[in-house]
Amino acid sequence: MDYLKIEGIESLKGTIKIAGAKNASLPLIAMTILAKNKLNITNLPDVVDIKTLLKLLSNLGAECEFNEHHVSVDTAKMHETRATYDIVKTMRASILVLGPTLARFGHCEVSLPGGCAIGQRPIDLHLKALEQMGAEIDIKAGYVETKAPNGLKGCEIIFDKITVTGTANIVMAAALAHGETILVNAAREPEVVQLCEILNASGVKIEGIGTSVLKIQGSCGELLDMPDFSIIPDRIEAGTYLCAGAITNSELTITDVEPKHLDAVIGKLEEMGFSFTITQDTITIYPAKEIKPVKVITQEYPAFPTDMQAQIMALATQANGTSIIEERLFENRFMHVSELQRMGADISLNGHIATVNGKTDLSGTDVMATDLRASSALVLAALIARGETNIHRIYHLDRGYDSLEKKLQNAGAKVDRLKE
Ligand code: UD1
Repeated sequence: MDYLKIEGIESLKGTIKIAGAKNASLPLIAMTILAKNKLNITNLPDVVDIKTLLKLLSNLGAECEFNEHHVSVDTAKMHETRATYDIVKTMRASILVLGPTLARFGHCEVSLPGGCAIGQRPIDLHLKALEQMGAEIDIKAGYVETKAPNGLKGCEIIFDKITVTGTANIVMAAALAHGETILVNAAREPEVVQLCEILNASGVKIEGIGTSVLKIQGSCGELLDMPDFSIIPDRIEAGTYLCAGAITNSELTITDVEPKHLDAVIGKLEEMGFSFTITQDTITIYPAKEIKPVKVITQEYPAFPTDMQAQIMALATQANGTSIIEERLFENRFMHVSELQRMGADISLNGHIATVNGKTDLSGTDVMATDLRASSALVLAALIARGETNIHRIYHLDRGYDSLEKKLQNAGAKVDRLKE
């Protein structure tokens, strides 16, 4: 197994290029199940989660040719409809094949994803919505078995809670359904917006893109003629590197980004004393005279993302004063806290609120990655810790960060990938 050895440094400098968004790529790859043609997707991040989903699609009979940042997908010969446990257990987002596969074949079986490091993460809202669209659903021997022999029917669906993959799944199901689906309380994340835009460009009329009410005119079972497209930039990877600039109090430029997707993150970093130059697709962060504490509440887009909570907490350990970080989306997303504490951070937890007292001097030690974003918080802390930090179980990082150590090395960090 690989681990990262990171030596604490004074500062970073230079430019980091941001990859395509993992969380946009996953639904967009699943969406190809609705296509009648072969299509090319570019600007994919070279990360394990993408390979996992392409493997799942290949298992279902699709032809996928993946080459670093590009894939061509042809689902014409797809024949299987069962997403098996061996894949689903490694990546919960495998559930994204459910909506499009059920819509296209009239049945689909997906293994229940099982436990998850950051909390329960149920799929009840996906299933309830599909049932409203006429699907019959059974849970048998650890699998969700869904059937809609006469196709799915458009209807009004009100999500009890905003769910990102739930919205993506139902939008894809609705794209092939009979009649109009109205989705109320839909997610407004940029990744959902791109999915809707590509479906729109494939002939599916969708009103309300980017709002919480989506109206989708289904194609009555007709497969779609899909254009080639390029994935939007990864706003979480971008936010993570902005925090790398911030925690080392350096000037650092990130390129190939969509700055407006980062408004909430930049806003919080400004409150902490950092300043920025922003162009159409680059962001430069400048050092703060004094790093100030911050109050953060994670919420759905456009508010501050839960996927940046761990990183801003690592940064808050370097602020002069007490920061309050409230996690509203997931019930168990503070596993980085105990590892940051082991490095010397002063953090106390009360339910879903973390209080971070700064500034603390962090020391390098052995720490363990527990989930994708928790791992990146440990990388940030290690950048400024005294001495050497060894981060174990970095397969979590490899799920979502494209060439992390190379990008950091190019910006002056002392990072090595080693074997245990
Ligand atoms: C997606 C992102 C993930 C991000 C999360 C929240 C992908 C592949 N993953 O995850 O990186 O952290 O959005 O921004 O895009 N819920 C239910 N029932 C459901 C579905 C969700 O109760 O059927 C709850 C969840 O437990 C959670 C909340 O709704 O508390 C939001 O979850 P959701 O938006 O579905 O997260 P994901 O789509 O899994």
